[in-house]
Amino acid sequence: MKLIIDCDPGVDDAIALLLALASPELEIVGISNVAGNVSLERIQKNTRQICELAGHPDAKVYPGCARPLLRPLATAEEVHGASGLGGVTLPEPTMAVQPTHGVDFLIDTLMNSAGDITLATLGPLTNVAIALIKEPRLVGKIPHIVLMGGSIGQGNITPSAEFNIYVDPHAAHVVFSSGIPLTMIGLNATHTVMSTPDRIDRIRANDNAASLAAADLLTFYGKDERDHLKLPGAPLHDPCVIAYLIQPDLFEVHPYHVEIEITSSSSMGRTIVSKAEGSDVDNGTHPANANVVLRADAAGFYDLLTQRLATL
Ligand code: BDR
Ligand code: CA
Repeated sequence: MKLIIDCDPGVDDAIALLLALASPELEIVGISNVAGNVSLERIQKNTRQICELAGHPDAKVYPGCARPLLRPLATAEEVHGASGLGGVTLPEPTMAVQPTHGVDFLIDTLMNSAGDITLATLGPLTNVAIALIKEPRLVGKIPHIVLMGGSIGQGNITPSAEFNIYVDPHAAHVVFSSGIPLTMIGLNATHTVMSTPDRIDRIRANDNAASLAAADLLTFYGKDERDHLKLPGAPLHDPCVIAYLIQPDLFEVHPYHVEIEITSSSSMGRTIVSKAEGSDVDNGTHPANANVVLRADAAGFYDLLTQRLATL
């Protein structure tokens, strides 16, 4: 499968990149960055550090948008650490960032493709929305977007909204109303794959550099949830997107209509999921526009992640 990954590393983005770079089924055409968890500058550094950790200094990393469409950038250093890769100190990257802007990379690569490149998004949807606005014919060239974002229920950055959608709800609105086949992996799904201490220990036991770094990242990432929220570990959001592409049978999905709240200040960025049964919900007035992942097989997910990290 040919794949472009748009991301904002970020601890869980980093684990997702390691999983993708360890997976022979995936041909990673390029990685575009978008501001989100930390500043774009740090994200570009983090992305290259992770590619080098995975033994892929040949990966193509493109700088994308440094801020959302309309709103000021909200970041998440309290979750990911000041660097965005809390828990590890990796060597300065030596590989270069590509000279092309991420939005132009998306447009040029997808328009020149045979319509066979899947898009995985792990951060705010700013780059994808701007690409769609600049080149509307992209709609016919993207067979599938698998995105981490949203929630059927509770949010995580506000009671109503999940972080990636909240940071750029207007971009999310553009993408969810584009007509491109979407799979949405939201908090309800990622909360079924908690990085508990025993799962982190299994990753650490691989005893290679990538797995040791992954275990340290996950230990840092889980601290807040374990100490304050009394969860057994951190929900592991972004790697679900890559795992879904590799092994979709680990996930239960259902077609729904998803609308993005872009007017209410208290619910800004909420994903309103119409939960009627069938692919045409609300008697056809709101046709389904996304396959929404409901839950994951956590044991299968951690087996896959642990086994793939062992190969790096
Ligand atoms: C999402 O927000 C970010 O902080 C994570 O990297 C993930 O993409 C989870 O809400
Ligand atoms: Ca992310």
